[in-house]
Amino acid sequence: MSSRPYIVGNWKMHGTRAMLSEARAIDRAAQRHMKVEVAIAPPYTLIHPVHREAEQIAVGAQDCHEQEGGAFTGEISAAMIADAGAKFVILGHSERRTHHGESDALVRAKADAALAAGLRVIMCCGESAKTREMGRAVAFVKKQLKASLPPQIESAAEKLSVAYEPIWAVGTGNAATPDNIAEMHGVIRALLVSLYGEEQGAKVRILYGGSVTPGNAAEILSVDGVDGALVGGASLTADSFMGIALAATEADDS
Ligand code: 13P
Repeated sequence: MSSRPYIVGNWKMHGTRAMLSEARAIDRAAQRHMKVEVAIAPPYTLIHPVHREAEQIAVGAQDCHEQEGGAFTGEISAAMIADAGAKFVILGHSERRTHHGESDALVRAKADAALAAGLRVIMCCGESAKTREMGRAVAFVKKQLKASLPPQIESAAEKLSVAYEPIWAVGTGNAATPDNIAEMHGVIRALLVSLYGEEQGAKVRILYGGSVTPGNAAEILSVDGVDGALVGGASLTADSFMGIALAATEADDS
């Protein structure tokens, strides 16, 4: 692993204030794993409470609106998220692309808005089972990412991460194989370099997501080109999430 491993929890639509104790426990444990950068993206309603509790971990959001403000009932802007204490936002998650019909162009507009508001961005990409079966996974991910990422990032490469999350691996208990992951992360790195140039393209972190658990994290995180993990179900308890952070420490030492 190149840089400090980046382990991010996506709580999805899970968590009420009762889960603040879990966030606190993650934060305390993260203070013992300083070689790993740990972050969580709880639902909007918990961003500020978690931010107030957290001393070590960064807090982020799972989406934002592409406009700065206005008559958009029910929406939340990047600046509002930042104001609540968020440092990053996950964008283009397959659940939003599928259930909310988010296009690549919309995801790109959200990324522009988020970066302009000073947030870091974790840009998700990944193919469906059908696309993989047709042998089109690489072509699909390249096209999706090219259309979703900001065309230019100037010197903001450190603010950008890409998460490769094959849809068939999300929430299924069926993580991608090390070979699948190594191949796709290589493809993504080459794309980033072609888009942003050698220096900036090399700085963007590439995370893997999809059924990462404390049991498989060490193997996944030691795959070439994996800079961290985006974790769903296993990020909901401090025990399992920090099991993954511990695996990241070990993968980094090996
Ligand atoms: P799981 O870890 O539950 O498979 O979810 C992955 C994910 O969607 C993270 O964004």
